[in-house]
Amino acid sequence: MQPNPLTLVSLFVGGALSVAIVLAAFIVALVISQRRRIAQERENARRVLAAQEDERARVARELHDDALQRIAMIRHELEEAAGAAGPEVAHRIGGVSAELQDLGVVLRTAAHQLHPSVVEKAGLARALGALGEEFARTAGLAVRVNVPTADPPIPAALALVAYRIAQEALRNVVKHAGVLEAELALTVGEHDLTLRIADAGRGFDTGTARPEDGLGLIAMRQRAVGAGGRLTLTPRTGGGTVVTAILPVRSGA
Ligand SMILES: Nc1ncnc2c1ncn2[C@@H]1O[C@H](COP(=O)(O)OP(=O)(O)O)[C@@H](O)[C@H]1O
Ligand SMILES: [Mg+2]
Repeated sequence: MQPNPLTLVSLFVGGALSVAIVLAAFIVALVISQRRRIAQERENARRVLAAQEDERARVARELHDDALQRIAMIRHELEEAAGAAGPEVAHRIGGVSAELQDLGVVLRTAAHQLHPSVVEKAGLARALGALGEEFARTAGLAVRVNVPTADPPIPAALALVAYRIAQEALRNVVKHAGVLEAELALTVGEHDLTLRIADAGRGFDTGTARPEDGLGLIAMRQRAVGAGGRLTLTPRTGGGTVVTAILPVRSGA
């Protein structure tokens, strides 16, 4: 008996349709699992960095509340002892006290770099201004800071992410760019904030990872991704480097 050609066609179409449905379901499942993996990786990066910030804040508090208070107390004691001592001993005690004062400044700066409480206290715009001044003072880098005059209402954790990115990018200008000028700009829109750090220095091949590269670029990128945003490194027209971070302001970072 000859098979009916219509039955053959419908069998073929039915088979092809089933294969297409299975294939489509497979692709959808693949896309969903890929998205879940990316979201999980982003969440992991965010958590690792948040834990790191908590730990840094704890160390900074300990430095500030314990070590610095003790230094102040020891100096006070020394000054009293100097008052009761002869001129030569008083002079030596004065020298020790001055050393301790310098040590206090070093520890205060370290505590501040570990956890910049200025971000929480003064907001991102002013903290970035202060960061620019800090780089001018400590590294001789003239930073042209361009930030909104009114502080934008963004979550403190996100402000800290932006601050840390700016800090590392400026550090890189000092270490690698070979120039003593940089630009630091912040713009805040309804959905995103954009942070841009630019220099006109020697630049580098931003597309190639090299074995000698440090963790700075990786950490900057992870911070941006952990906050639900992205970070790009681009050569600047005319030479130099531009670091741009675009972060969603309502990411809940
Ligand atoms: N602004 C810059 N100008 C020139 N080169 C840079 C700049 N930023 C980064 N680089 C290059 O990228 C490399 C990786 O930077 P990073 O990951 O921060 O590590 P590190 O600063 O510890 O070397 C640097 O060693 C340097 O070669
Ligand atoms: Mg670096």
